[in-house]
Amino acid sequence: MSLPASDDAVVQVVHDAYSVNARTGADPLYSNRVAEAFGYTQEELQSIPGDAHMGLGCGNPVAGASLHEGETVLDLGSGGGIDIFLAASKIGPNGQAIGLDVSSDMIKRARRNAKNKNLRPPHVAFVQAGLTKTLPIASNSIDCILSNCVINLLPLDGKASLFKEMHRVLKPGGRLIVDDIIAKHILPDDIRNNLAAYVGCISGAIPIDQYRDLIIVAGLHDVVFADTRGDLNVYYQAEKSTDPASSCCGSTTSCGPPKPTAEFDANKWIGSYQIYAIKQKTISSQPESAKFPSPLLNWWDAYPAVESVAVPTMSNQDVAELIRHSDRSHYAVIDVRRNDHAGGHVRGSFQYPAQTFYDDIDQFYEKFKGVEKVIFYCNSSKGRGPRCAGW
Ligand SMILES: C[S@@+](CC[C@H](N)C(=O)[O-])C[C@H]1O[C@@H](n2cnc3c(N)ncnc32)[C@H](O)[C@@H]1O
Repeated sequence: MSLPASDDAVVQVVHDAYSVNARTGADPLYSNRVAEAFGYTQEELQSIPGDAHMGLGCGNPVAGASLHEGETVLDLGSGGGIDIFLAASKIGPNGQAIGLDVSSDMIKRARRNAKNKNLRPPHVAFVQAGLTKTLPIASNSIDCILSNCVINLLPLDGKASLFKEMHRVLKPGGRLIVDDIIAKHILPDDIRNNLAAYVGCISGAIPIDQYRDLIIVAGLHDVVFADTRGDLNVYYQAEKSTDPASSCCGSTTSCGPPKPTAEFDANKWIGSYQIYAIKQKTISSQPESAKFPSPLLNWWDAYPAVESVAVPTMSNQDVAELIRHSDRSHYAVIDVRRNDHAGGHVRGSFQYPAQTFYDDIDQFYEKFKGVEKVIFYCNSSKGRGPRCAGW
């Protein structure tokens, strides 16, 4: 199968393929072999949830990032969360690690892994976002950007716009550590147009000079490329997928991406590199002590989106009627606002700030499953009189 013509279609095909990976997972033997080939230690791999890595990386960016306690970290194309979990252990409870991925299945997988590790937003957050678009991240808010085997998957214009976005979101003095596949030679046309080879992180690889130009044009400095010398044929030392749009067969056998041609020697055509760059501090940069903005533009992006199509709403009269004529056991009012101290909460309500739903949903369900009507008070009023108007 050949590559679709439009950039949007390419992004969609990549999305679909990695969503399959996210849903089916990978054989742990295969994942471990790939991870070890690209520099993860057994100790690191054992410290993270097994489902967090699927043999999809081509380096170990955290190992090169010199992360410090309290830093904010952004991982672009975070997959099952491998590098976010390793970063979280370095930045400690006062740091923040945010993974972005276009695939909602990947995000679900990563959130599941985070929950199992008892890691929650805002400390550890996974957010669905396309990297070829404006990132849902505040400007000047990130100390360190990581990415592992993702940028090659973006169309050329998407690569260029992503580096500009990296420059925007990094704090002055912030840094990026990106592991990626680089083309050693101009790839033959049949490989460049091969969909499976694109999804398998080969065809979208660009030469080092072109890569460096994209970073410099974006305004980043001190660009360094280090050849990790990882053996890229490790991906093929296993059974192959029969689905050309998927880089994992997802069965019980170990499997890697399909080899583009029988005689293809990955190490001859492409290499795995670790790439470093910084956003320079300028004279107008804020002083060290200045408070940088919180990275996530919308805190709710770190939680699952509401899936109900139409949530029924109630008027003040509806609620008044209900309270007047029903037994308290027939309804419960849940006030989801954070306590603002100015107006207090709705009288007789249960307080569940919206951020806690995701973490406590099971207990929440148990507590209220027998109640006929559960009413959420969501409005931004101070909880008093006529301003108390949204149910
Ligand atoms: C090769 S995998 C690497 C995953 C992870 N970094 C790791 O090392 O395990 C590529 C990841 O990038 C994500 N991705 C691909 N294209 C993307 C895009 N346009 N925007 C955001 N994420 C994307 C995929 O969903 C997938 O999770």
